[in-house]
Amino acid sequence: MNMSKIDQNWRADFPIFAAHPDLAYLDQAATGQYPQTVIDAMNAYMTTANAPVHRGLYKLAYDATNQFEAVRTQVAAFLGAAHAGEIVFTSGTTAAINLVAQSFGPLVVDAGDEIIVSVAEHHSNFLPWRRLAGVRGAHLLIAPVHADGAIDEEWVLAHISRRTRVVALAQETNVSGACLKQARAIADAVHQVGGYFLLDGAQGIAHNNVNVQQLGVDFYAFSGHKIYGPSGIGCLYARAELLLEMPPVTLGGGMISEVGVHNVSWAPAPERFEAGSQNTLGVVGLGAALRYLQPRRQAMTVHCAALTQQTRAALAVIPGLTLYAHPEAAATLSFNLAGVHPHDLATFLDEQGVAVRAGHHCAQPLMTSLGVPAMLRASLGAYTTAVDCERLVTGVQDAAAFFQVAAR
Ligand SMILES: Cc1ncc(COP(=O)(O)O)c(C=O)c1O
Repeated sequence: MNMSKIDQNWRADFPIFAAHPDLAYLDQAATGQYPQTVIDAMNAYMTTANAPVHRGLYKLAYDATNQFEAVRTQVAAFLGAAHAGEIVFTSGTTAAINLVAQSFGPLVVDAGDEIIVSVAEHHSNFLPWRRLAGVRGAHLLIAPVHADGAIDEEWVLAHISRRTRVVALAQETNVSGACLKQARAIADAVHQVGGYFLLDGAQGIAHNNVNVQQLGVDFYAFSGHKIYGPSGIGCLYARAELLLEMPPVTLGGGMISEVGVHNVSWAPAPERFEAGSQNTLGVVGLGAALRYLQPRRQAMTVHCAALTQQTRAALAVIPGLTLYAHPEAAATLSFNLAGVHPHDLATFLDEQGVAVRAGHHCAQPLMTSLGVPAMLRASLGAYTTAVDCERLVTGVQDAAAFFQVAAR
C-alpha cells in the first residue's frame, strides 16, 4: 500500500507507545490511550491533593472539592451547557443513559407511549429503553439504518408523533461511525410533540464540536475513556428543569439534605445523583483529558479522517472484504473477510502487533439486521500513524492469503 504520509504530531504525547513501540493500537473506539498530561494530572492529584470531596472540613479536602467542582464547570463549558448544575458525574455513558431511563423515564413514559431508538444503538442506548418500554407498557420503535450504515433519520422524523415521549440516538454509531446529520431537526420535532431527546455522545464527542444548547438536546451522555481520559468516569448533561424533577436512583451518602428514621429530603441536583464517594481521580483525569482534546479536536479529527479514507480505499480492494463502515466515518473501519471468523482475523492481526476489536460491538440488533454474528473494527485515534494503517492493510492482505479467501 502506498499511503501518503499524513502529518501527525501527537503520538509522542502517549507514553504507552514508548513501552510498546511496535504496537499498532487500533481500538480507540473501545478505549483510548492516555496522553502524558492526563497521567501527570492524575499523578499530581494522588501525590499532592487527594482528600474526600464534599466531606472533609480541612484545607486539603476543600481544595480537592474545588478541583472536583472546577471540572464540572469545565465540562459545562465544553458542552455549552447553561451552567455547571446541569452536569452529573457518572461512571460513563452507560450509567448516564441508565440514569435517564430509570429516573426520568417513568415520569414521562406511560402505557401506549412510544420510545424511538435505532437498530444501530450500542446496547447501552438500547437495553435501558427496551426495559423502560416493557415496564411501562410502551412501544419501542426501532429506526433502521441505510445501506451505508447511517441511521435513517427521515424514518425517525416520520415516526415522531403525539405518542413519542423519548427519542434516544447515537450521535456517532460505534460500528459504522456514521454521524447524525439532523440532530437539531429531530430535537425540534420531538419537542413539538412534547417529547424529549437524548444523544449518546460516547463516540461523537471525540470528533464533533458539541454545544448541547445549539443541538437542542435534553440529555447528552459521554465517557472519559474514549477521549483520552480515564475509564470509570463520564457525564450526563441534562437540562436543569428536567434534573429538578428527576428522583435519585442510587441512594446513599452525599445525596441528601436531611435523613430521619422515617423521612428523607434529597440534595439538589446534581449532588442528588452522585451517591457515595465519587471517582475524584477520574474527574481530575477527565478535566486533563478535556484540556488535551479541546484545542486539538478539530485537527485530530481531520488527521483521523484522512487516514481512515486512505485505509478504507486500500481495504476495499482486498478480495472477499466487506466494509460496514460509513464512507464519511471519521475514525472507524468495520469489516469482515469472507470465510474468516473475525476472532481468527483479530488473532492473526494481533500476532503482527495490530490490535483491533472483533465481536458484536455491543450492537447485536445491528449485527442481526446485517446478517452477521460479528465483525472486525479498527478505530483510529490522535496517535494513529500511516504506518499503523499500512500494517493493518498488510495484515488483512496476508490473512486473506493465509485463509485463502475466495474472490467476491
Ligand atoms: C455509541 C456508544 N454508546 C455507549 C457506549 C458505552 O460506553 P461506556 O462503556 O463508556 O459506558 C459505547 C462504548 O463503546 C459506545 O460506543
